[in-house]
Amino acid sequence: MTATIAQALAASALDAGEARVLMRHALGVDAAYLIAHGDEALTSAHSTAFDALVARRAAGEPVAYITGVREFFSLEFAVTPAVLIPRPETELLVEWALEKILPSAQARVLDLGTGSGSIAISIAHERPRAQVAAVDCSDAALALASANARRHRLANVAFMSSDWFSALAGRRFDCIVANPPYIAAGDAHLARGDLRFEPAAALASGSDGLDAIRLIVAAAPQYLSAGGWIAFEHGYDQAQRCRRLLQDAGFTQVFSRADLAGIERVSGGRLDATEVKS
Ligand SMILES: C[S@@+](CC[C@H](N)C(=O)[O-])C[C@H]1O[C@@H](n2cnc3c(N)ncnc32)[C@H](O)[C@@H]1O
Repeated sequence: MTATIAQALAASALDAGEARVLMRHALGVDAAYLIAHGDEALTSAHSTAFDALVARRAAGEPVAYITGVREFFSLEFAVTPAVLIPRPETELLVEWALEKILPSAQARVLDLGTGSGSIAISIAHERPRAQVAAVDCSDAALALASANARRHRLANVAFMSSDWFSALAGRRFDCIVANPPYIAAGDAHLARGDLRFEPAAALASGSDGLDAIRLIVAAAPQYLSAGGWIAFEHGYDQAQRCRRLLQDAGFTQVFSRADLAGIERVSGGRLDATEVKS
C-alpha cells in the first residue's frame, strides 16, 4: 500500500516547504488541496512521480528548474536552465523603478540583461502606459521572456537581442534598470548550491565581478534622456565601488538602497540635463 500525502511529505527528508511545492507539482494541485487531503493515499503513479522530483532536488537541482516556474513581484514566470531564477531581493530594484516611473507617464524604460523578463514584465504590468524595452545576449532567454510577456498579456514590453547597448544606437530612455552578472569569476559560491545549475553568463563578470557594471555605467549617459535615471543590482560588498563608478561617469544624486537585511544591493543615479551625451 502506498503512503498518504502527509506521510510521503514527512518521509522526503527535504525542506518541508520545498517538499510541498514538489508534491503540488507531482499531483497538479494547489496548496489548499494538500492541506485538505493529507490523509489521502497516493496512487503508485503519483508516488513514483514525487519520488523522482525529490531525487532531483536531493541531487541539488533548484526547485524552480524542476517545476519550471517561479513567482516574482506577485506574477508567475516560466523558468528554464537558460535563465537565472528570479530572486526575491531583485524586487527592490523593481520597487525603485516604480517610484521613478509615475503611473501617468509614458516613460521609456530599458531593462538590460532581462533573463526570464521578470524585471521588465513586472514594470510593464505595473505601469501600463510605460514602453519597456528589454535586451539580452541569450536567444533562449529572449524566447522565454517573450513567452512570459504573452502569458501576462502585455503589449507594452519588447525584447531584443543585444550585447548590452549594441542594438540600441540612437535610442534614449527615461529609466534604465539592470540586474547584470556581478559575481567575481573565481568566487567559490559559483560552485555551490543553486548557482551550479544557472547559466555562467548570468552570474560571473570578470575578476572582481564588476566588468558588466563598469561597461553599463560608462555607456548609459548616451542612452538616457535629460534627467533620466539608472539603477542596477550588485553584490553585497560592491555598493561603494558602484557609487564611485556612477560619480566618475557624471551621474548626480548617486545613491545606494539597502534590502530588508540592511545590505546595500541597488545603486544608481541621475543624468542631469547638462550631462546628456550625444
Ligand atoms: C543576473 S541575470 C538577470 C536576469 C533577470 N534580469 C533577473 O533579474 O532575474 C543577467 C542577465 O544578463 C544577461 N547578459 C550577460 N551578458 C550580457 C551582455 N553582454 N549583453 C546582454 N545581456 C547579457 C544574461 O544572459 C542574463 O540573462
